Amino acid sequence: MSTTLQAVRGMNDVLPDEAPLWQHVEDVARRTFAQYGYRNLRVPIVESTPLFVRGIGDATDIVEKEMYTFADKLSGDSLTLRPEATAGIVRAAIEHNLTYERPLRVWTSGQMFRHERPQRGRYRQFHQIDVEALGFAGPDVDAEQIVMLARLWKALGLSDLVLKINSIGDADDRRQHRASLVAHFEQHHTLLDDDAKRRLQSNPLRLLDSKHPPMQPVIAAAPRLVERLGAPAREHFDGVRRALDNAAIAYEVDSRLVRGLDYYNRTVFEWVTGALGAQGAVAGGGRYDGLFEQLGGKPTPACGFACGMERLVLLLQVANVVASDGPIAYIVHAGDAAAAAAAALAERLRDAGHAVVVNAGGGSFKSQMKRADASGASLALIIGDDELAAQSVSVKPLRSNTGQVSVPASEIAASIATLAA
Ligand code: HAM
Repeated sequence: MSTTLQAVRGMNDVLPDEAPLWQHVEDVARRTFAQYGYRNLRVPIVESTPLFVRGIGDATDIVEKEMYTFADKLSGDSLTLRPEATAGIVRAAIEHNLTYERPLRVWTSGQMFRHERPQRGRYRQFHQIDVEALGFAGPDVDAEQIVMLARLWKALGLSDLVLKINSIGDADDRRQHRASLVAHFEQHHTLLDDDAKRRLQSNPLRLLDSKHPPMQPVIAAAPRLVERLGAPAREHFDGVRRALDNAAIAYEVDSRLVRGLDYYNRTVFEWVTGALGAQGAVAGGGRYDGLFEQLGGKPTPACGFACGMERLVLLLQVANVVASDGPIAYIVHAGDAAAAAAAALAERLRDAGHAVVVNAGGGSFKSQMKRADASGASLALIIGDDELAAQSVSVKPLRSNTGQVSVPASEIAASIATLAA
């Protein structure tokens, strides 16, 4: 016997029992984004490697150690499974001139790949719902995206998420802050771990993210960029905060929030939960006014975020939210004539917009009723010899204690919704 094969570590199947919750999140997100004028766009899962190296930054964890990169067999070109969606969307916007005439709000969803150590809420293949506003300079859009997320949480019934925001300023602000950070950390060089020493010159901001215990007091005393912003970034951040206050959205300004991708400037934000252990970030994003130019496009200010689907689904499971994809009815039948009547009845019900499963593969009345129950259907519709003779259907509610009733076959389509309620 050959050995059985298993999914790749960190890459999960979403099984039919879990899928309704995924579809619920996707449906609510799609409806919410449409309410704000966001349009769907789909970009490839595979892109050329330099897109991510240039877009995300070569000193980031993602580019340094987490990308699934391989050589195309024919051309030898270096290709990468996307670790995030923003770079691909910006590439598409540049390639198709999507945003030079007028700004564009878009969203996408799908698989992302990062070679991280798998744990609860962190996987090597994961799914994001990603939203981007391309060609918008003002703080109004940053705030609108955050307000939209607050609406999404409410629609999903999630009430315990905390919003953290920060501003990482403009390039000049960061240059000055970076110089003062390097000076600060150099004063405490002996307390840095190897990773921090290596990154001190290339990416000192990431040192603020370090969990290395001896570095914590040094990090706490480090100069804070959000307190040293130049006037344009300061005004932008004040604008975001005013708009959030006007919308009555609570937030914490977290001067340590730096995010793991290099393309950000000014506003950055994350929504976090305490319910998932270490993997607390459910959504994160911010402004990236320089990315278009970095990828060879014309200057185009932009702002966006992504939500982690797995983390959202886990949160809903923790909150005992259930979603069902069961049909309204499961048709149980015995004999050839009844089978034909069942198939015809099912098609009539589907014409009326209902989801109906017809028992297939035979089986005793008892085993068919078990399958009806397992299908999640609200009703079993039973067609046997007696029903055929009387041109009726026996309707048995499966989710309540209401008794079985006999309904004329011609009236089923009109009354099924009431019977299932
Ligand atoms: P990110 O913070 O790297 O941002 O990812 C966004 C969200 O994806 C995280 O908050 C988390 O919920 C989820 N996520 C990230 N990595 C994993 C993983 N290994 N397993 C499960 N979930 C994960 C971005 O990707 C940016 N592109 C967001 C953005 C869009 N910024 C501007 N526009």
